[in-house]
Amino acid sequence: ADALRIGIAGLGTVGASLVRILTERRETLATTCGRPIKVVAVTARDRAKDRGIALADDIWFADAGTLAAQAEMDVFVELMGGAGDPAYSAVKTALARGIHVVTANKALLAAHGIELAGIAEEHGALLNYEAAVAGGIPVIKALRESMTGNTIARVYGIMNGTCNYILTKMEKEGLSFEACLKEAQRLGYAEADPAFDIEGNDTAHKLSILTSLAFGTAIAADDIYLEGITNISIEDIQAASDLGYRIKLLGVAQRTDSGGIEQRVHPTMVPFDSVIAQVDGVTNAVAIESDILGELLMVGPGAGGNATASAVLGDIADIAKSRPGAQHVPAFGRPVAALIPYTRAQIQ
Ligand code: NDP
Ligand code: HSE
Repeated sequence: ADALRIGIAGLGTVGASLVRILTERRETLATTCGRPIKVVAVTARDRAKDRGIALADDIWFADAGTLAAQAEMDVFVELMGGAGDPAYSAVKTALARGIHVVTANKALLAAHGIELAGIAEEHGALLNYEAAVAGGIPVIKALRESMTGNTIARVYGIMNGTCNYILTKMEKEGLSFEACLKEAQRLGYAEADPAFDIEGNDTAHKLSILTSLAFGTAIAADDIYLEGITNISIEDIQAASDLGYRIKLLGVAQRTDSGGIEQRVHPTMVPFDSVIAQVDGVTNAVAIESDILGELLMVGPGAGGNATASAVLGDIADIAKSRPGAQHVPAFGRPVAALIPYTRAQIQ
């Protein structure tokens, strides 16, 4: 069968892991997917950087815009990050060519997700983004596909590996906030600008995507009460512990009695005996409360090259396995025209 041709923009923590896995598992993937997956185009800022991966010279493009516009590919994989350009324009360009897009970029989706979903729909392309929320945990597939038909009351959890890693290390090893953050950066968990992690924006971006999927609403990333972990001290963590609680940065989205939706991100005291309190380090946890299924709790690796590349690879494999003419899964679970306007909760 014809190979699935992919172009990758961004060869950092996630992109380099993806290329490594695609190379090491080439034969297994070809069998599983029914056809080979071939990297035909790549780009990054610095072509000379040693990334520990072998890439042929002739697949390099000068920049993401040129790659998105000109590469002969079936899937454009965006792993650069950032809500603006070049990611935004490059993804739009690829979708407008009818090329499927796979991205891990929650900042981009929080800002432009519905517009991008509309372009994808118009041009018969898929927009897949499993890695954008909670790293390797398949929460997008759960909400977008498996739980179709459920009415969801609440979705919440630990959605930022960097913050959970910092809070865990501070509590268990008594290390300073700064030392823990540095280590999270070294391990490839943090955003290029770690302020997005520790000030809660990254959790807010992810929550806004889950809210849309859970409630069928347009994304409303600006309507989130936001408080990060920058003011949490070892003394706060100790005081909470003395009372039988752990401090976790939670994202919560729920329907309210007033018929609106409430979205919030803030440090929360959770009792020791709750499952969420036991979620340590870079691990994330997402809970979904629904009427048919009941309560679903997913716990797993929330950041890092391999965990994230695993989710990106799953999105690529889904496309490789799909057959021409197959019905596409809408990016936000339903056609863009069927999304419900977002209604913010009344302040009681
Ligand atoms: P990195 O900073 O490690 O890598 C970013 C890559 O994009 C680098 O290869 C960089 O090039 C390239 N790049 C950046 N700007 C440009 C540009 N203007 N033009 C061309 N290439 C560019 O990021 P990550 O791999 O950690 O993250 C990638 C995406 O995945 C982000 O959206 C992030 O939020 C998301 N994500 C990351 C996770 C993680 O654990 N790291 C988990 C889940 C999602 P160069 O190498 O030459 O500098
Ligand atoms: N910086 C993010 C985190 C990466 O720490 O969770 C995964 O989205």
